[in-house]
Amino acid sequence: PVGAQRWVPPHPRSIDELKSAAADCQGCELHESATQTVFGRGAPHAKIVFVGEQPGDIEDRQGLPFVGPAGRLLREAVDDAGIDPADLYITNSVKHFRFELRGNRRIHQNPGPAHITACRPWLVSEFALLKPELVVILGATAGKALLGPSFRVTRSRGQLMPWPASAQHPEDFPVAEIQALATIHPSAVLRADDRETAYRGLVDDLRVAAAAVA
Ligand code: URA
Ligand code: SF4
Repeated sequence: PVGAQRWVPPHPRSIDELKSAAADCQGCELHESATQTVFGRGAPHAKIVFVGEQPGDIEDRQGLPFVGPAGRLLREAVDDAGIDPADLYITNSVKHFRFELRGNRRIHQNPGPAHITACRPWLVSEFALLKPELVVILGATAGKALLGPSFRVTRSRGQLMPWPASAQHPEDFPVAEIQALATIHPSAVLRADDRETAYRGLVDDLRVAAAAVA
């Protein structure tokens, strides 16, 4: 794929400007079959940026991130962890829905390394504008997008990490005092055998995030 960079405005002044530009992105082939670009949303001066994987079926139809079941669970966990929703911005590593058609059902497929790399310029430009204090990495795809292919959620979850030391291509991310915290993806909670325990684990990790920006 050619990558998203060519569609990113050189000196964006707002998230809205980025979002409009991303609507036309053809940086990889995912734009061909998805309904629309699903850009990040939230507070323009968010202290915390959440980074997920990619839009799901419902997000693809509505054009907004985390509006389906995983989003509902995430909002509940944010609330239980005591994070003020006014401090939040939520986005995805890949901004088009990747799926496989089975009959007339659209089955979620993980984005590949090429999609993650192609889409990274949007994430970089979101960070450059938002200058968050903390980035919460939701699951393995976001971890690989931000921290490199060897990232493992289970090894790093719930710990505050300094950003530049751990980030892949730290020069990509022009943010000085940023911290990162990884946790499991809310979809993993929905799929877990022991949902209660998985949910409590997510909330515990998010409490660390809440304390870090308090
Ligand atoms: N899962 C994600 O990672 N992102 C969304 O927007 C929805 C579900
Ligand atoms: Fe562009 Fe990202 Fe969509 Fe690919 S997934 S077309 S890089 S916005």
